[in-house]
Amino acid sequence: LNIAVLVSGRGSNLQSIIDNIENGYIPNAAIKVVISDKGDAYALERAEAHGIVPVFVDPSAFGDKKGYEDKILEVLGKYDTNLVLLAGYMRILGSRIIGKYRNSIMNIHPALLPSFMGLHAQKQTLDYGVKVAGCTVHFVDEGMDTGPIVLQRCVPVLEGDDEDSLAERILEQEHKIYPEAVKLFVENRLVVDGRRVSVI
Ligand code: GRF
Repeated sequence: LNIAVLVSGRGSNLQSIIDNIENGYIPNAAIKVVISDKGDAYALERAEAHGIVPVFVDPSAFGDKKGYEDKILEVLGKYDTNLVLLAGYMRILGSRIIGKYRNSIMNIHPALLPSFMGLHAQKQTLDYGVKVAGCTVHFVDEGMDTGPIVLQRCVPVLEGDDEDSLAERILEQEHKIYPEAVKLFVENRLVVDGRRVSVI
């Protein structure tokens, strides 16, 4: 199974997927390409270090979103992509990509959806004052962080937490549930029925 990962930055979730393919936890899968909308994303260096093709697609090189997304589609097609992973990719995917890869695009979000969608989820979590935080792997639909939920994990919000300490506690769980979700996908064990995803 061929995986493409879309990134914009640090790429620690990309690294957790790479590590779990290399150590055999995720079987029968390979990351064929890592695509970034930022030329200086550290995630591109991580890809290269593991023999994965890094591709920078510069949004400003295209007149409109359609041209940019055509290029992404071209790269996904070139590597016979079966599964697209968003890992800190900071753009909303257009409907053509989502339509073509329906229920084959996953994202990781640092909150327990449907709470705290969008940017700065950890800050939203702290500001709201909830006592339980967490992360969510979900399939990507046309909305922002609205698609069917695959896996979630919670962590406590502790007295004295700031954005960094909470983000770090959540990230540790992100690095566990994203590989778990990818493994389930690769093993064909996820069944999507409307909003509900079952593990078989
Ligand atoms: C993670 O917190 C992820 O949940 C969010 O963006 C961050 C990406 O971090 N979507 P990294 O680039 O994977 O290190």
